[in-house]
Amino acid sequence: MSKKIAKKIVVGNWKMNPLSLKEAEKLFINIAKSVSNFKKTGIIVCLPFLYLEKLKSTSQRTKKISLGAQDVFWEDAGAYTGEISGDMLYDIGAKYVIVGHSERREMGESNNDVNKKVKAAIRAGLVPVLCVGESMRDKNHEYLNFIKTQVIECLNGVSKNFISKVIIAYEPIWAIGKGAYPATPEEFREMNIFIRKILSDKFGVKIVEDIKIIYGGSVDEKNTEGFIKAGYADGFLVGRASLNPKKFSEIIKICEASDK
Ligand code: PGA
Repeated sequence: MSKKIAKKIVVGNWKMNPLSLKEAEKLFINIAKSVSNFKKTGIIVCLPFLYLEKLKSTSQRTKKISLGAQDVFWEDAGAYTGEISGDMLYDIGAKYVIVGHSERREMGESNNDVNKKVKAAIRAGLVPVLCVGESMRDKNHEYLNFIKTQVIECLNGVSKNFISKVIIAYEPIWAIGKGAYPATPEEFREMNIFIRKILSDKFGVKIVEDIKIIYGGSVDEKNTEGFIKAGYADGFLVGRASLNPKKFSEIIKICEASDK
């Protein structure tokens, strides 16, 4: 797995929460306080667009947390009512953007759309956190072909120079959200190796060593260690637990302890 850069990445995805700027600030400050002693882990919080500007100054003060968005449009500027471009996100303080989350794919986003968004993010200087994941696992292992197609189509046309900037988040849809169960570390390990193989066939073994492959789907402080030790996770994409400063910082603490 990725040995060159030991540093783990933990990406919080607040989704459409919390419901006011005041609460968002409070949550962000509490997270910042609880992670203030951590040094090694890359900590990113992906906020609703509206909160980015206000929380930029807070994040600059506390320095530990980078900001990200949860989506980006594929065009750079122009007549696209309601959309937000990569340049706008970069300008407002985002450094990362989640692309192709299953909740957006559920609303109709195709691999082709996601591919255009990955490239738009890279053009704007943002790090795309590309989500891939199957909705179910079948005995014939068709889900492996499904993931392969997602990885290849979503990264189509991304050059070797930029591929190591992309973070891949493997998030099986069946493991996301309330009432779902996380994948096992072994299930993640299989997928981690599989995705890395697809990437090394496409981009070459050397470059792929630097690509981070993280796990998402019902991540909490109890299952973090298993995914690192038995799954070789380079980090995590965290939904619900990222809204709880105590849980979120516990997850990061475990990542810190694993990076010697
Ligand atoms: P969850 O969400 O951690 O609440 O399962 C993960 C995600 O959708 O990114």
